Amino acid sequence: MRTRREDVSECAEDLQCGVNVADSTDPQEMSDLVKKHVPVISAPDTVKKNECFEVTVEVGKHLAHPNDPDHFIGFVELYADHRYLGRMDFTHTTTCPVAKFCVQLDHIHKELRAFEWCNIHGTWEGVHPLTVTE
Ligand SMILES: [Fe+2]
Repeated sequence: MRTRREDVSECAEDLQCGVNVADSTDPQEMSDLVKKHVPVISAPDTVKKNECFEVTVEVGKHLAHPNDPDHFIGFVELYADHRYLGRMDFTHTTTCPVAKFCVQLDHIHKELRAFEWCNIHGTWEGVHPLTVTE
């Protein structure tokens, strides 16, 4: 696991300060903490311009995250690069941290990005490379 905290190096060990990302996309190389938190994006690798496609963001796909009143996933947000696409909020116990979006894009520069927030372990990012064709 690494963190994106840029100039806040004194917070290197504080999960709540900054955005946490996995070092690897291979679950075999992830710690249990990373497996429970990194949002996993399921989407096509290539889509056509302005055609709807489905994006699923799942937290705990590799290892289930707790879903209790004192430890749960509060929300998932989806972006195309840095362009905001949507958000889903979750309640503990009664909803699972899985979000489905129907998306259509006229372009993308690099990737879909998903963020999730755990009330104890902070914000985590997952990415999925995507190409939009004519
Ligand atoms: Fe957590």
